[in-house]
Formats: sequence, C-alpha cells, structure tokens
Amino acid sequence: DLDQTFIQAPEHRADSNSIPNQPEEIPVIDLSHIQNVISEIGDACETWGFFQVINHGVPCDARKRVEETVKIFFDLPMEEKIKVKRDEGIMMENTRRTLEIEKKYPMAMPSSTDPEDEGLRVVYNKWPQFPSDFREACQEYAGHAEKLAFRLLELISLSLGLPKERFHDYFKEQMMSFFRINRYPPCPRPDLALGVGHHKDADVISLLAQDEVGGLQISRRSDGVWFPIRPVPNALVINIGNCMEVWTNDKYWSAEHRVVVNSTRERYSIPFFLLPSHNVEVKPLEELLSPENPPRYKGYKYGKFYVSRNRSDFKKLEIQNIQIDDFKVVT
Ligand code: OGA
Ligand code: NI
Repeated sequence: DLDQTFIQAPEHRADSNSIPNQPEEIPVIDLSHIQNVISEIGDACETWGFFQVINHGVPCDARKRVEETVKIFFDLPMEEKIKVKRDEGIMMENTRRTLEIEKKYPMAMPSSTDPEDEGLRVVYNKWPQFPSDFREACQEYAGHAEKLAFRLLELISLSLGLPKERFHDYFKEQMMSFFRINRYPPCPRPDLALGVGHHKDADVISLLAQDEVGGLQISRRSDGVWFPIRPVPNALVINIGNCMEVWTNDKYWSAEHRVVVNSTRERYSIPFFLLPSHNVEVKPLEELLSPENPPRYKGYKYGKFYVSRNRSDFKKLEIQNIQIDDFKVVT
C-alpha cells in the first residue's frame, strides 16, 4: 500500500515529462587521462551540472563492503535499526530508507535557523553494534570519497582558471560533509511515486555510487527535459550543488534530479555530500565577477541555510523548503 503522502502531484510524476527515445548521455570522464580532464569537467559542469567518473581512485572493494554491510543492517528488525536513530539521522519513508553518516564526528551545526543565534548543536554518529564491521566499512569508504571530492574540487577550480586550492579555506574547520546510504524498496506504482522527488543538492559537490538497477534522472539545463543516468559499473556520478553554483555565479549548474522507483527490484545508492564549514559565507567569487557579470546572489551563512532546508525536509513541513533562489539578487 502506498502512503498517500508519497503520491507525487501529476506534474512531478516520472511519466508526465517523457524521456526522449534516444536520450543524450552525460559525459563519462576518465580521471586517469590527465590531458583533457580539466576542460571536460568544466564543460560538463556548465552544460549538465552532472558527469560520471571512472578510474577515480575509490577502490571497488571499499564500496562493496559498505553495500554488503548495509544490506545486513537494513534487513535487521525495526527495533534494532531504531537504536541508531538520532534526532534526524535515519529516515523511514515508504519509498526510501536512509541512513545518514557524518564524515567528521562529532559534527557541529547551528542549533537554530535564527540568524542572531550563534549556538551550535553537536551531532554524533550512532553506530550499530551489528554488523560489527559496519563502522569500519563506512569510515573507510568516507575517507576515500572525501579524498576524491577534494581532488575534483581542485580540478573544478582549475577549470575556472582559479588556483588549484582556491576553495580549500572553506573546509578548514567544522566541515559538515556526510554521506547517506539509501535503499529504495520495490514500489508497485512507479508511475505515481518517486524514490526522491525533484530537488537540487544543497552542498558543494556530490559523489554518488549507484548500483546497476538505475532510476536516477536529471533535468537538462537547456530545456528541463528529463534524462536517465545510465549506471556505469564502478563509476561514480558527480554533480554540482548549490554552493558551487553560487560561487561561480551560475556559470556551473546545479541540476534538478529525482529517483524513479522500480516495481520489482530494490536499489541501493550511496551519495557523499561535500559541505563547507557552517560559518562560511557563500557568495559569488570576486575573481569571477565583472561589470558584465554582476553578482546574482546575496551572501548567506552556509550552516543556517543548511539547517533550515534540512528541517523542512525531515519534518515534512507544509511550508516550502528554503531554496537557493531565495538568495538571488532580484534584477
Ligand atoms: C540525494 C539523491 C540520488 C540517488 O540523496 O540527494 O539525489 O540515486 N540521491 O539515490
Ligand atoms: Ni540529490
């Protein structure tokens, strides 16, 4: 039985915006080819906001280990799983089961959305007792994913004509990066429900490991048409988040994406989200601005933005999520 709350409004359903017969594909970039990698990444960030990487240095085994241990975890009885529930750490929805794991823990984030309030709330990972190597598997994978995230960040920086380490200061203290492990159970009505509704990621860049089932779709920048992301064995799907979009003053694109459910197969995905420190003020980079390219966004404190967004996500508030467009300069 499908919970009414997961039935998508007709205009958001996967079948309402049909996919072209021969969908275009996002670029698959081989990171071992030093030659063209910077311009390929730059083009992909501008045209699609998405690309896949192969030969990326995250060992297959590390990823497999997470997939295997997490399958065991998700199959445990609910009373076991609930033990690792932090206030906002595990979400149980009809279309998706999610476990969130902070990269650096304990992790601090603003305790409220009030701009005047400087209080911080500390979030801890609660690790399950079983499977016993769950924690180690997660930490190993997160370490590799973070390393790749910074390597991609450097390549992105170079693709903008900026110094390789231009973004590094934004991650110096209290970085809020985390990863999620998603299990999408089979759903009888892929026409009515989505695993994840259309959204943009609120981070800097996301690195997604998806299994062979498929279901991720993205909206093309030029016309909003939806395209499936073909699962490529051992590749990681990379996408630009809101921060990078703002830093580049919309040169690089944070694409809307969603997940279509499968009626017979369950699907796993592991996205790693690279987030700056909570106290970073995100605003277009001076070096990229000019009289012809004035700032399109007002600055905003990253932690406050993140907390307001996350709250409304988790609590399913009726109010509209805060969106990056709320910080657009009205012209
Ligand atoms: C997300 C997301 C896609 C997927 O968690 O933000 O877009 O394939 N996930 O699970
Ligand atoms: Ni996403």
